[in-house]
Amino acid sequence: MKKTQIGLIGLAVMGANLARNIASKNFDVIVYNRTKEKTKEFIKQYGNEHLFGETRSLSQFVASIERPRNIIIMVQAGKPVDAVIEELFPLLDSDDCIIDCGNSYYRDTIRREAYLAPKGIHFVGCGVSGGEEGALHGPSIMPGGSGENYVRLRPIFEAIAARDFNGWACVTHIGWGASGHFVKMVHNGIEYAVMQIMAEAYDTLRKLYNLSAPGIADIFEDYSKGKLGSYLFDISLKVLRKEDEFQDGASLVDYILDRAGQKGTGKWTAIDALERNVCVPTIAEAVFARNISANKKLRTELSATFEEFHGKNLPPLNKFIPLLKNGLYASILSAYAQWYDLITQASREEGWEVNLAEISRIWEWGCIIRAEILSFLHESFLDAPEWVSHLFAIPEVMSAFRESVPDWHGVVSIIIEHGIAVPTIGSSLSYFEAMTDNEHPANYLQGLRDFFGAHTYERTDRKGVFHTEWSDK
Ligand code: 6PG
Repeated sequence: MKKTQIGLIGLAVMGANLARNIASKNFDVIVYNRTKEKTKEFIKQYGNEHLFGETRSLSQFVASIERPRNIIIMVQAGKPVDAVIEELFPLLDSDDCIIDCGNSYYRDTIRREAYLAPKGIHFVGCGVSGGEEGALHGPSIMPGGSGENYVRLRPIFEAIAARDFNGWACVTHIGWGASGHFVKMVHNGIEYAVMQIMAEAYDTLRKLYNLSAPGIADIFEDYSKGKLGSYLFDISLKVLRKEDEFQDGASLVDYILDRAGQKGTGKWTAIDALERNVCVPTIAEAVFARNISANKKLRTELSATFEEFHGKNLPPLNKFIPLLKNGLYASILSAYAQWYDLITQASREEGWEVNLAEISRIWEWGCIIRAEILSFLHESFLDAPEWVSHLFAIPEVMSAFRESVPDWHGVVSIIIEHGIAVPTIGSSLSYFEAMTDNEHPANYLQGLRDFFGAHTYERTDRKGVFHTEWSDK
């Protein structure tokens, strides 16, 4: 067998589909999995003139790849990644390159890159989004690491990636170091936020208007045709319209337990933002909402202690639908502003040099958050002056908000009046209000802090640091 252009370790569904995608673009790829049986089965089913398997040993696998070697690892994030690196380490030569395509925590990527560098082994932390289907037919790919490694891997990445709205590959060199995994982590934070915003809209429609799941799907279908068009709305229609196999005529979604899982990327995003003093309230609230949902037992107990609350001023459904549409759009846009802030700040602090227009472009298709809004952001970033300090400072973005803000206020107040929790829609609005307000109540906070702790304050009318002996202390 001739040597292959690339190797891939890890044949769980994402790895298997990625290997098939690479082979389908005529790159020779060899795969390896800890369980040999899995490799055998995979090759029996999908092996062809470009797709090979190695079941003898990891060293045979490594020896089958042309040098300098490129080896993708697609195993569970955390310890399994370190275990694979440890096994590969003695088998690799200088200038070989490991590409970690899993959802690794970016600080692990920094550590791994530093660990491999003295031996001359390159390490590329590479985010891949799109789920099983994306991995097979075209994901959005977010590689970090050095520019030289990107040039080396680019032909494969560009061949297997999804295409953006202009037909370009949904891949770009995100930036140096661990920027690829960082940006994928934030992608997932946004995924949490957008999904929770949509879930709150679903909750509102079913509780306030007694709509069935297919009835809500009809409204979401209408939303998905315009500026809210997105993969998450598309799949919502399928989820909401799915009939249950056990309960005749019922919707499956009505029988799914309201307890959400999570693997950690949203939480990492929120923690990272806190550490960098960046505000991502919508992402954080989306994580909290999953945590609250997971506490089913307590919620069930507490729900018996408080009667349902009904407000008075519910508009007719046909008036509410367009309000909600604009409220959703503005909430999602506000969540993106938080994304902008976090990535910009991290890139500055870590020296990654990421390009926000490019990130928006490669998220136009292939990834889970692919949406019309990303094309709008891509165009807005391209038009924005270089010094732009915040997403809200981009004129196109601000006019989009201007069109939606009155409805956004209206919808949030109606929902809150009727006692429904909308932590992400509400926090997106509060973030927008706070960020565009020149008069915060922090003056009052400073007064309290100075009163009890002599923490000092600054003044609006003169320079310097002040402390007051508050007379009533
Ligand atoms: C993707 C997804 C994918 C997955 C995450 C989030 O981009 O393909 O983001 O990575 O959905 O692991 O999963 P949790 O919701 O379980 O945290």
